[in-house]
This record gives sequence, structure tokens and C-alpha cells, in this order.
Amino acid sequence: MSAYNILLLGSGGRESALAWKINQSQSLRKLFIAPGNGGTSHYGTNVDLSPLDFPAIEKFVKDNDVKMIVVGNEDPLVNGIYDYFENSDLLVVGPSKAGAALEGSKDFAKRFMERHGIPTARYRSFSADNIEEGYKFLETLNPPYVLKADGLAAGKGVLILPGLEEAKKSLNEMLSGMFGASSATVVIEEFLSGIECSVFVLTDGKDYRVLPVAKDYKRIGEGDTGPNTGGMGAVSPVPFADETFMEKVRTRIIEPTIKGLAEEGITYRGFIFLGLINVGGEPMVIEYNVRMGDPETEAVMLRIESDLVELMEGAAKGNLGDKPMIIDPRTAVTVMIVSGGYPGDYRKGMIIEGLDDVRDSIVFHAGTKHGVGDRIITSGGRVLSVSSYGKDIESALARSYDSIKLINFDGKYFRRDIGSDLMALLDSNK
Ligand code: AMP
Ligand code: GLY
Repeated sequence: MSAYNILLLGSGGRESALAWKINQSQSLRKLFIAPGNGGTSHYGTNVDLSPLDFPAIEKFVKDNDVKMIVVGNEDPLVNGIYDYFENSDLLVVGPSKAGAALEGSKDFAKRFMERHGIPTARYRSFSADNIEEGYKFLETLNPPYVLKADGLAAGKGVLILPGLEEAKKSLNEMLSGMFGASSATVVIEEFLSGIECSVFVLTDGKDYRVLPVAKDYKRIGEGDTGPNTGGMGAVSPVPFADETFMEKVRTRIIEPTIKGLAEEGITYRGFIFLGLINVGGEPMVIEYNVRMGDPETEAVMLRIESDLVELMEGAAKGNLGDKPMIIDPRTAVTVMIVSGGYPGDYRKGMIIEGLDDVRDSIVFHAGTKHGVGDRIITSGGRVLSVSSYGKDIESALARSYDSIKLINFDGKYFRRDIGSDLMALLDSNK
């Protein structure tokens, strides 16, 4: 296949980073991003299409000779976009609907891990019919208590409660519709203590490639305080994810996952995102996602030297085994600039100044759009992801923080402590 047209679905910082990388490919003729944002138009053409409107996507793909669809977020996958196009010659990078259940249903994911002996926290699932058993199960666990809505809940479906009574109350509330149908089933699991990291795998269903490992920072406040957000920053590589740790990840988690999917007849040709926790040197799975992470992608893409489109084509066509994954040894970080008030109420429509002054970082747009004239204005809580290379975490961060000084809008906020836990870990190992 020579160069061809690609449609990327999504509109966040992750999609900006994917668009940036796809735009460098030898295999790309024309890139379309649906719906995209104020920055993705640097790398391709934004098109006003909903990623969930499959018939409209089908028409667009035919009219514009698109050969590959790259899916940024989970919703289209969980809703079956892979299956919708399965009998066409379009390449969709992602799992089938059955595979997307690894993210779409936490109960399915836990049962899958149980069937294939993949290390994860001890758990049980409950519905309104057996809530009394749920209370009893909680009594067998030590605090804090982890309650997860089975279905998609926009990243908000996990509650961690310090006390037993609160946990019982929350179980009742979740099963009574706190997250709508998503919490009609609740997974209760043992709390695991350790440092988390995100491992991204690209698979064609038999072979796989591991992408650079990253760590994200989810809380709004410095020192990992305050409510969860869509992500405030990320660092790659992760010092504790060394060769010994990654060998365990490959043999105990990645290979049994891919083999398990194949044995169960589940088609999976795309990214698998393993949310892992390092429990005393042993990797355990906190969650599966069926897409790349945000904001991890805004650091990870900087570290992939290989042509991403060739890799994704290998995954979609089933010849990934022929494609090398070459990784840049430098460190890459990203720091997210958000709107004051986020993740609560925040203002939109603020004019962003200084974007053209940034030289030493790559700025990926997230919640931005084109305003009047050539202005870029804010349109979301997470606004810009400022990514930089460095020889180590400290030097990469220094670049991002210097670049952030050049960018301004009313209410600009960012965390100044991205990566500080990893730097402390490195210092303590010296
Ligand atoms: P999730 O939405 O599954 O990513 O969960 C959100 C966050 O809750 C994770 O990133 C972890 O920080 C935390 N978490 C989830 N499950 C556990 C667990 N079993 N033990 C400790 N922390 C957890
Ligand atoms: N950074 C976590 C996620 O994308 O779900």
C-alpha cells in the first residue's frame, strides 16, 4: 500500500499528539481529524463529524478515499466501530466490540484476568439483588475500600473510601443509580498499594510491540491532592519500569492477555493500555483501557522513532511481526495547562496568547478552538499539553515550564510538581 488517507477520531490532547506523529509518516497522503480542535488543523483537516455517527463516517470515508481509521477514545470502540466496518477493506485500528469490553465492563475485565491467571486485585461483583453479600464482602476486606462502577463513567466511576460504613453507603448509592446504568453492577476489590504506571501495547492479535512506558498525574492539586482530572501531566520513561519489571509485565500480563483474547475468539487489532501498579516489584493490573492514554500519549509519541502509521497498519492487517518499534532514549514529559476552576466549573472562550513564541517544546492543543480571525480560544477544562524532550526528567520539565511562561490566558493553571515523585525515587536509589 503506498501513501493513503487517514481519518483520526477525537478532539483532545491525545488526538493532537497522534495527529502530530501520523503527520510525519511516509505512508500518509492526507489526514482528517473528526472533530479535532484548534491545534489539530496544523497536522491535517478538521472535519465536523461525530466519532459516534458511524453512517456519517462511512459516507465520509467513501467520499474521501480514506483507507484507515484511528480511534482516539474508547466510546466508538465500545460502541462497535470495528465491527461496523469489519466487512469492508477499511483498516480500523482498535479492538472489536467484544475486545473493547476490557474497558467497557470492569466486571468482564476482572473475569477475563481471572480466567487467564493475570495478576490483579482480589474482587467480587455485586448488583442490587445481592447487595447484602456485598456488605459482607466489604467486611472481609481491609480499608481503604475500592468500589468501581462496571460500565463507562467518564473516568469518575471509581470510589476509594477510607471507612467501612462509608463504603457500604456508597455501594448502596452506586447500585441505586449513582452512575446510571454504569453502576448497576459494582466491582469491589482489594486496595493495592504501590506506584502506578501506564504500559501501552500495540497488537495484531498474535504479535505485539510495547510502546514507551509512562506515568500520568491525575489529581488537580500538587502532591497528588484534590479531585481527579483527565490528567495533569505525564513522564516517560518510568525509572522503576526497568528490564526486570518489564519482563514480568510481558510474561505475566501482556502475553496472557493477547493469548487469552485469541483463545476466546475475540478480535483485537489495536492499542491495549495496561494501567499497572508496582506492588513491591510485582506488576498487577488496575485496569485495561482499549486506546492510548491522555495525557500519556503527549509524552509517549515523542519517544517513538518508528513510523507509527506503518506500525498501526501492521496491527490492523496482522503483520505487526515485521515492523520494528524503535524508541528514542531521551526522556519526554508533558505538562497540562488547564482553566482555573477545572475539574469543577471553569470559563471558556479565553483568548490564548503566546503560542507562537514557544520554541523548545511541542504544544499539543486539547480544549481549544479557532476564534475570530486567527485567534485560538479555550473551549475546555484541559487546554494545552506542553511536551518537551530532555536528557532526564528534570531537564525535560525545565523546558516545559519555561515554555508555559510564554503562554497566557485568563485563569491559566498547571501543576508544578509533575514527575517529582519519580525524581525523588531516583535520588533515593543513588
Ligand atoms: P480506574 O478508573 O480504574 O483507572 O481507577 C482510578 C484510579 O483508582 C486508579 O488510577 C488508581 O489510582 C485507583 N485504583 C483503582 N483500583 C485500585 C486498587 N485496587 N487499589 C488501589 N488503587 C486503585
Ligand atoms: N491517563 C489515563 C487515561 O487515559 O485513562
